[in-house]
Order: sequence, then structure tokens, then C-alpha cells
Amino acid sequence: MNFTETLTGRRSIRKYSDQPVTKEQIEKIIELTRFAPTWKNSQTARFHVIMNPELKNRIAEEGTCNFSKNKLNIQSAPVLVIQTTVDGIAGYEKDGTFTTSKGTHWQSFDAGIACQTFCLTAYDLGLGTLIMGIFDEEKIKNILNLSEGESIAALIALGYPAEQPNAPKRKELSDIMQII
Ligand SMILES: Cc1cc2nc3c(=O)[nH]c(=O)nc-3n(C[C@H](O)[C@H](O)[C@H](O)COP(=O)(O)O)c2cc1C
Repeated sequence: MNFTETLTGRRSIRKYSDQPVTKEQIEKIIELTRFAPTWKNSQTARFHVIMNPELKNRIAEEGTCNFSKNKLNIQSAPVLVIQTTVDGIAGYEKDGTFTTSKGTHWQSFDAGIACQTFCLTAYDLGLGTLIMGIFDEEKIKNILNLSEGESIAALIALGYPAEQPNAPKRKELSDIMQII
């Protein structure tokens, strides 16, 4: 698979097979995800990998804001990754003030780059992913006993795909680009 094929072939996967994903595969994905660029190389993304089915099911039941689609998405996947960011670093000066007028924006920006790097790497290794933005941050933080200085950026389902969805339509280049 060349890079264009990886980029265009990755899809959000919402149905997974029972084939297990190994710890080694997940380590490989996160090892490569470390190469994503970050604000001043601050590397604030963290990955809490849930392979325990009971714990994963508890998050599906209690941590999805009654959005039943994400409950099913999480139940279907053999692995759930809780991607977090260490707060107060990306976008900040050493004295704790913001470097730019965009405030906390940069830690989410870095999280997004890391998340896409994770998903493309997983796809390149034959696995499917789904990024989920609808979740109950406080509930999941409590369930996992996450440290105070971490925010949840996204949930990522991971596993072998049991579906091959078509790509949702993309906007035309003329809708999103101008040359000035
Ligand atoms: C920040 C973000 C949040 C998302 N949240 C959800 C979600 O909560 N549930 C879901 O089923 N899909 C979610 N998606 C997946 C999008 O719906 C999907 O990426 C989009 O429809 C394009 O499809 P594709 O990923 O197959 O190209 C999310 C994607 C992103 C980037």
C-alpha cells in the first residue's frame, strides 16, 4: 500500500470481527504515532489502551452519554483506546501563560494530528479504527482513575474490520481551496 492508498483507503469502521489484536500490534502503532509533530516537540498525547472486555463494556455502558451508536461501536471493537493530552503544556509558555491568542487550542491540535497518525498507521498494518468524539469525559476519567492533569481528547475503537464502508462524499476542491 502506498501513501495515497493509505490516505484514501482508511475508513471509519463501526463493525469489527472477533479476531483479537495483540499487545505487540498496539505497541507498534503507538511507537510509530510518536513520530507525529507536536507543539515545541512537547509530545503531550497519551494512549490508555483497554483490552479488558469488562472494563471496555463498562465504558460503553456508562461513558457514551446515552449515544447508543457509540455504545455499539465500542462493544463491537476488541480494543478501545482512550486518547488523552497532558494539560497545560502545548501552547503555553514556561510561566503558565498562553503563547498565542488561541489559548488551549494547540493541545487539541496536537491530539488531532496524533489521532490521525494512529488511525493511518493502524490501517497500514491491516486494522480498522473509529474516532469517537461523543463521550462522557468525567465518567470515563472516574472509571479509569485518570490523573487530574489529563484531558480526554478522543476515544478510538481498534480491531479487524468486519465491514468495508464506502467513503462518505468529500467536498470539491473548489469549495475548500483558493489560490490568492
Ligand atoms: C473528531 C471526530 C469525532 C468523531 N466522532 C464520531 C462519533 O462519536 N461516532 C462515530 O460513529 N463517528 C465519529 N467520527 C467519524 C466521522 O463520522 C467520520 O470520520 C466521517 O464521517 C468521515 O468518514 P471516514 O472516516 O470513513 O472517512 C468522528 C470523527 C472525528 C474526526
